[in-house]
Amino acid sequence: GRVLLAYSGGLDTSCILAWLIEEGYEVYAFMADVGQEEDFEAARAKSLKVGAKKFFLEDMKREFVTELIYPAVQANCIYEGVYLLGTSLARPVIARGMIEVAAREGCDFVSHGCTGKGNDQVRFELAFYGLKPDIKVIAPWRLPEFYNRFAGRAALLEYAAAKNIPVQQTAAKPWSTDENLFHISYEAGILEQPNTTPPDDMWKLTTSPEKAPETPERLSIEFQRGLPVKVTVQPSAPGGKESVYTDGVDIFLALNALARKHGVGRIDIVENRFIGVKSRGCYESPGATILRVAHMDIEGLTLDRNVRAMRDQFVTVQLSQILYNGYFFSPEREFVTSCIPASQRTVNGTVRLKLYRGNVVVEGRFSNEGLYDERESSMDELGGFLPTDTSGFIQIESIRIKKWGQSNQRRGQG
Ligand code: ARG
Ligand code: SIN
Repeated sequence: GRVLLAYSGGLDTSCILAWLIEEGYEVYAFMADVGQEEDFEAARAKSLKVGAKKFFLEDMKREFVTELIYPAVQANCIYEGVYLLGTSLARPVIARGMIEVAAREGCDFVSHGCTGKGNDQVRFELAFYGLKPDIKVIAPWRLPEFYNRFAGRAALLEYAAAKNIPVQQTAAKPWSTDENLFHISYEAGILEQPNTTPPDDMWKLTTSPEKAPETPERLSIEFQRGLPVKVTVQPSAPGGKESVYTDGVDIFLALNALARKHGVGRIDIVENRFIGVKSRGCYESPGATILRVAHMDIEGLTLDRNVRAMRDQFVTVQLSQILYNGYFFSPEREFVTSCIPASQRTVNGTVRLKLYRGNVVVEGRFSNEGLYDERESSMDELGGFLPTDTSGFIQIESIRIKKWGQSNQRRGQG
């Protein structure tokens, strides 16, 4: 059979590649460009050297931004209150790229190097089956003939030596990473001890806030229907020129660069994986952190109260969980995301922000939507309705509350 392997260029997937060949498969290697900093040419060369018959590199950046990242921004997606879902968001586009290549190149099998304890195995495989129900999956780390043979890194290194697989000696980092244009994750290795503070040189996508510039930087983000359509960065020196970005991918890259410079977007958490184990992870989501602050702010000015409350309870919570647990290609995801446009129709306006030493500070916002009425909201003037109207509102709202208070008094609890 012919198998398409999700290849990273690292030790695990290189050994898996050699092992699949040993097991009698013809192996094609697949890599997705989702914006990670990576030497794709070196990975291509390495996969072919190890024995892959072909190598495919698919550029998935634009669909990653427009089909995954932007709906997640519009819905304020977040997992367990802190994790912005950067790895979860990339998996569906990577899986789709793989299935496209597998179908086109006549591969009956797909394979990956995810461990048997993580989220990614679930995300990839549910996506594969949703897109191509007849695909066959080889998950070596869940096959006894593989995990018994390669129990531990030493066994992998020994196998790599025997198979002439080059192993990167340079700066072996004692953790594992997953990077794309939205974020980078750090897990495993020394991070498995949850009380170990990561060394400052672990962080790759952001400056540490202590080393960030002493002068803040100001920008504005314009949203249309909840999507960022224009980012304007103020000149850093008087008389300088402002920078403007309008393309979806450019906007994201510009926000990443700004956040990186100002130390925005680092977190260190212990999260609950789908399969039930807890896992310590560190993440940098630079541009995404700015966008989240800005989007939530413009919703304050432009989104109806009850739509917002329902969206928060339903769309935000459900879509975050669907993404984390790997159900992007599912009927429930289609159902939930169909609510997003209706929730974002009025989310039009501009937020002004300041970046300063790890912080994203909102400095103001404006919109033509007209849901906010200065006269109506003012404490200094009568406007829109009469104070006596509100007396009636409170009287009626208190009917039930008074009854409850009376019954407590009768039982002597008042
Ligand atoms: N814990 C994060 C998540 O589940 C990050 C996973 C990182 N994956 C990886 N293959 N290194 O989304
Ligand atoms: C892995 O286990 O392969 C990486 C981490 C995860 O998928 O959660």
